[in-house]
Amino acid sequence: MKSIAVIPAERDVKLIEGEEPKLSSPSDVKLRMLEVGICGTDREICSFQYGTPPKGFDYLVIGHESLGEVAAVGPAVAGLKPGDLVVTMVRRPCLHEECVSCVSGRADFCYTGDFTERGIKGAHGFMADIVVDDERNMNLVPASLRDTAVLVEPLTIAEKALTQIWSMQGRLPWACPHSAAHGLGHCHRAVVLGAGPVGLLGAMALVRQGFDTYVYSRETAPNPKAAIAESIGAKYVSAETASVDQLAATVGNIDVVYEASGASRLSFEVIQRLGVNGIFVFTGVPGRKAPVSIDTDLVMRNVVLKNQAVFGSVNASRENFQDAIRDLVAFNELWPASVQALITGRYPLAAYHDLLLGRPTGIKNVLAFA
Ligand code: BGC
Ligand code: ZN
Repeated sequence: MKSIAVIPAERDVKLIEGEEPKLSSPSDVKLRMLEVGICGTDREICSFQYGTPPKGFDYLVIGHESLGEVAAVGPAVAGLKPGDLVVTMVRRPCLHEECVSCVSGRADFCYTGDFTERGIKGAHGFMADIVVDDERNMNLVPASLRDTAVLVEPLTIAEKALTQIWSMQGRLPWACPHSAAHGLGHCHRAVVLGAGPVGLLGAMALVRQGFDTYVYSRETAPNPKAAIAESIGAKYVSAETASVDQLAATVGNIDVVYEASGASRLSFEVIQRLGVNGIFVFTGVPGRKAPVSIDTDLVMRNVVLKNQAVFGSVNASRENFQDAIRDLVAFNELWPASVQALITGRYPLAAYHDLLLGRPTGIKNVLAFA
């Protein structure tokens, strides 16, 4: 069996031949991998910024954005059968009884930090011909999503953010009178920072909820990312041609910021323009660079005087995966060409080196297994 692994101690990334994993418990499911997406996290692991091999291994098989086809099931598996399409979740709970999050099936809110994540931290990932996991970590995907379900995992980031936005904005009168007909976001303006896959999928989710959505990103338009943003009814604003102040003047009261850029300086510039009763969600994980100065008095005054909320969000629950699958079906009905356009390249496993270590290109690149 072939897989792509990093060997942190040797600072190496390579295609390795290993033994196929086997069904080891009655509720295990064996998947033939179909597609695995490549994201910034994988690239950072391949530059050895993090990524931890499982106990007893000197290498880590990477990959966490996946689509597989069920090849075999254990005798206790009830919900999946050979041929089904499946997206497997990433994080597994820590084993501490006192971790109320992990104990309640919300490892995405793990307290102890001793969780594992397949392809990232302490557990092998999905860039492998064959993957075995417990049925409880898998989500059945409709056959109609065969070509796009590899986008489910990056979409879960927006789903988790939105679920939290609804619950936090529920603390105040927020929904407009037309929300029943036009979506919970109707009458509200959202700014997405970044036009990578996480940003554009987030923009799709926001538009579908009725938000007047702006995507603010570096590259000047026209460009393929701007074209996708506009094709779904969002407005693309380039940071090269419009300052944050100009962005704020165009948008009006910024009700939601969905940060998907990993750019901290930009984020703290935009936070200063967050509107009355606004909410700002961080999803990016910036590398550590030199400190920058920000007007902390202004930010603090605004947070208080404008009743703002600022939060961060990582990983996703089963419910967030289910929401992502449902939304992806809807996106494919509303904007089939735009969803397809997010996937800018499909490559054989052997192309891993340039994709992981070369200059980033396109939007979402995918390893497609023959
Ligand atoms: C993955 C998450 C994971 C996070 C931190 C992201 O790329 O999508 O599932 O929790 O990295 O490791
Ligand atoms: Zn990812």
